[in-house]
Amino acid sequence: MYALVATKSNNLNGNIKLKGAKNSILPILAACVLTKEDVLITNCPVLSDIIDMLKIISSVGGKVNFYNGNVEVCCKNINPSQIDKSLMKKIRSSIFILGPLLSRCGEAEISLPGGCEIGARPIDLHLDGLRSLGVKISQSVCGENSVVRCKGKPVGGVVRLKYPSVGATENLMMAGALSSGTTAIYGAALEPEIVDLATFLNNIGARVYGAGTSLIIVEGKTSLHGARFRPITDRIIAGTYIAAVAVAKGDVFIEGAVGDHLDSVLHKFRSAGVIIEESASGLRVKMSRQLKAVKQTVTLPYPGFPTDLQPLFVAAMSVANGESVVTETLFENRFRYVYQLGQMGADIILDGENTAIIRGKELSASSVFAQDLRGGAALTVAALAAEGESIIYGVEHIDRGYENIENDLTSIGANVMRVFA
Ligand code: EPZ
Repeated sequence: MYALVATKSNNLNGNIKLKGAKNSILPILAACVLTKEDVLITNCPVLSDIIDMLKIISSVGGKVNFYNGNVEVCCKNINPSQIDKSLMKKIRSSIFILGPLLSRCGEAEISLPGGCEIGARPIDLHLDGLRSLGVKISQSVCGENSVVRCKGKPVGGVVRLKYPSVGATENLMMAGALSSGTTAIYGAALEPEIVDLATFLNNIGARVYGAGTSLIIVEGKTSLHGARFRPITDRIIAGTYIAAVAVAKGDVFIEGAVGDHLDSVLHKFRSAGVIIEESASGLRVKMSRQLKAVKQTVTLPYPGFPTDLQPLFVAAMSVANGESVVTETLFENRFRYVYQLGQMGADIILDGENTAIIRGKELSASSVFAQDLRGGAALTVAALAAEGESIIYGVEHIDRGYENIENDLTSIGANVMRVFA
């Protein structure tokens, strides 16, 4: 197993170039099952979640190749009965393959998806939506070995999402793209990754309208073709490095970052005193004095403050001057990293299960344990402001979403290295 060793770092400086967004690439990879032709996706980071998704696609007969940031997928022959159920349990995004498998083959039997321990993460919205599109679904619930059996190709219809679930919106878009009817998704999620998936689907011949609004219409097609596609950059990684400059200070250019994808985040960091200059090629982030506390932050579906940057923002507020309050409204267990920040001396009180009250202060190095992807990134960022040498165990969680967090951070002057632990 590996760990990160990080020491206090001052005045970060330089340029970080963003790669494709994990949460855009994962559904797009699943969407490759919809076509028998070759698909090439470029600017892909090497992430364990992406590798696991490629393994799932291989298990149903897809041919995959991943080299120099390029992912080639060819799903000419697909056999849903061969799906690797143990891999399905490993990552949350495995559920994305359900819609494409049903559209392509008319049947699928899957295990419940896994993922970060940030909440129960049910899939009822996915399954109810597919039922509205004519799919017959039964579930045998027995803990770890629960199985979902689906029969029938989606035939189009009207889905009313009672919550703007990102994954459910994406699954239903893909289920409608290769179907005999038209699908209307009311209450759709608005995230940039939804728009990117729609762009990809239209590039392979689908007819998706309204992505980025709460009503998405998908006119089903009988067949789709191949494409070459470059996904949007990873806004959550961009936000991670904004937080790093906020706590360690400096002047860093995040190449490829799109300000429009991070409006609510830029607003909050600017309120804390961070200078962020937007340009067509990226974001320049400058910080030279102590962060100011930000009174109230609430995570919300896009365009609200993204839950995935909540841990990074709390890490920054842990060293800000004053008291900040952060409320998490999407996931019920997304503050587990707070206990670990407390080992570094952070003064954070959890009021109930979804509100953190943070009083900024000096942090001191400690040995801490990453328990989920963004919580682990938050511990790493906090360590840059902590006096002494911190050790962050559980780097495998961080590797799910960051290709080489230590390389990125050292490239701008942070003191972080990976060790075998
Ligand atoms: C996606 O997860 C992202 N993952 C998450 O990023 C992100 O935090 C989340 O969207 C919210 O933005 C990927 O795209 C691979 P949801 P997803 O469905 O689709 C409830 C990361 O760090 N819900 O929008 O699973 C759910 O429990 C990851 O990169 C149901 O109740 O999120 C949660 O409370 C973490 N029933 C809320 O909706 C369902 O069927 C939002 O979930 C589905 C979801």
